[in-house]
Amino acid sequence: MTLSIPADNHPGRVQGDLMQVEHPDLRGKVAVITGAGRGMGLRFSAALARRGVHVVGADIDGALMDEAARSVELEHDGIDGVGDVVGTTVDVRDRDAQQAVAELAVERFGQVDLWINNAGIFPESPATDIPVSQIQATLSINVEGVLYGAQAAASVMRPGGSIVNMASVAAVRVRRGRAAYCSSKAAVSHLTECLAVEYGDLGIRVNAIAPGFVDTEMTRWVQDDPEALAKALDAIPLHRLGSPEEIVGPMLFLLSDSARYVTGHILAVDGGSRHV
Ligand SMILES: NC(=O)c1ccc[n+]([C@@H]2O[C@H](COP(=O)([O-])OP(=O)(O)OC[C@H]3O[C@@H](n4cnc5c(N)ncnc54)[C@H](O)[C@@H]3O)[C@@H](O)[C@H]2O)c1
Repeated sequence: MTLSIPADNHPGRVQGDLMQVEHPDLRGKVAVITGAGRGMGLRFSAALARRGVHVVGADIDGALMDEAARSVELEHDGIDGVGDVVGTTVDVRDRDAQQAVAELAVERFGQVDLWINNAGIFPESPATDIPVSQIQATLSINVEGVLYGAQAAASVMRPGGSIVNMASVAAVRVRRGRAAYCSSKAAVSHLTECLAVEYGDLGIRVNAIAPGFVDTEMTRWVQDDPEALAKALDAIPLHRLGSPEEIVGPMLFLLSDSARYVTGHILAVDGGSRHV
């Protein structure tokens, strides 16, 4: 079974089957994906499994993660050569727990080749009133979580490994009420460059994707508010939100050998919104 982009509520959406893009070099590899219980992390799991990659999906919500792993299995029922998806629980703030995920992947599949630091939160508060708990949680999940994931990945990866972090257009375009998030994603972008320089010594590439507005639970607030949605669409040159499937292709590119000379790159996948 392949996925088609839904044609529903996004004017101008391009029709096509993005799941057809193949990367045969990925087959047989092993990936770890954090925050894989839903949203983009879930779609990355499905896309990689579809291409014969074994996946360890790790999420703070264990029940959600188990359901996600089952849904990928069902989606691929009857298709040959699909990779396994194993779900596990992790809080990315916990360095030891991320290390345990890396070791689980090695125990189950013998190696780790690909690692996606995808887990993140998107809290809101006026900058003058950000509660201590909010700034700490945001920096800890969105930034420390990426660092600990990269450290765990590097401890088990061989040369040729590829790490991709999820940054955001919010790293370069300020959004009112999102100071904690914007600054955390700016940190993710710069951390990506720092890690790329040092992990180059290990033969490991480190890149990031910087999505704009993507149609997931994280952006439900804008999709459910017609005024906010109209404002958001106006500030996107392509005048529509992205679908999770539209982040999959760029993700596969960065993970694959097609990008084997690409490291320390922040790939904007945002319908052009970083320019507006
Ligand atoms: N949706 C967008 O428009 C958008 C835009 C730019 C960047 N991003 C980034 O992309 C990534 C994925 O976004 P999404 O829209 O799929 O989000 P989502 O909210 O749908 O999913 C995030 C997942 O991360 C998990 N998670 C949260 N805290 C965690 C923790 N401490 N440890 C482990 N797992 C945890 C959640 O349980 C959830 O399953 C995030 O880093 C987000 O900041 C999203």
